[in-house]
Amino acid sequence: MISKESIQGGPVPKHVAVIMDGNGRWARQRGLSRVLGHRNGVQAVRETLEAASEAGVSYLTLYAFSTENWNRPAEEVSALMSLLVQTIDKETDTLMQHGIRLLTVGGIEALPAEARNALIALREKTSVNTGPTLILALNYSGKWDITQAARRLAGDVRSGVLDVADIDEQCFAGYLSTQGIPDPELMIRTSGECRLSNFLLWQLAYAEFYFTPVLWPDFRKEHFFEAIADFQHRERRFGRIDAQIS
Ligand code: FPP
Repeated sequence: MISKESIQGGPVPKHVAVIMDGNGRWARQRGLSRVLGHRNGVQAVRETLEAASEAGVSYLTLYAFSTENWNRPAEEVSALMSLLVQTIDKETDTLMQHGIRLLTVGGIEALPAEARNALIALREKTSVNTGPTLILALNYSGKWDITQAARRLAGDVRSGVLDVADIDEQCFAGYLSTQGIPDPELMIRTSGECRLSNFLLWQLAYAEFYFTPVLWPDFRKEHFFEAIADFQHRERRFGRIDAQIS
């Protein structure tokens, strides 16, 4: 089993992004409702945040609700929103004690008022914290992010704030919802699915991908450390050849 000690001394990604997947299958295997799968996923969120903080990861992004997730049965969507509000209520003190700052990416204005207000209040309250940053992706998708960036950028060109000649990658990234946040170096997806599912399409351009068969409600600290240990063995070439790296 991989412990925190076994990753010490090696490079630790500054930003880890996670697709939390497998809650439904976890529940089905136990004859439980899908909602109970999500409820049991909250402990995995807690452990992942704790492990990330112990490992020295500065940013952790969790894909909590995609734009496509609105297509799920209404009761499941509503249960996910309630779970979000309950978890915020329950965990606010812990976040404050650990100096964790919360950010959100995605169109949170479309969330039910209770969830939206709870998120805005938590963002505000934790904005003074200087520890690790937890980023919740809610009503998020990579294509949505790139589209909203293009729309705002076009608006700035039209109003004369921005010159077309000044549009480069750095400029474009400044319009994405992740503006100011370094790109993730590691993306973890649980449950054995090997897809990006419209997650951070632009931001993951150079990330290492780690897929584990573990279902999200079973994901524990040691699984997170295992992913970091795996990352430490990857050779990151960024288009160069290996002789240029070593
Ligand atoms: C994917 O499993 C999980 C989600 C869409 C939601 C993740 C939400 C939580 C873990 C709950 C709490 C989160 C926070 C941040 C408080 P799935 O339903 O797609 O599983 P399946 O593929 O097995 O059906």
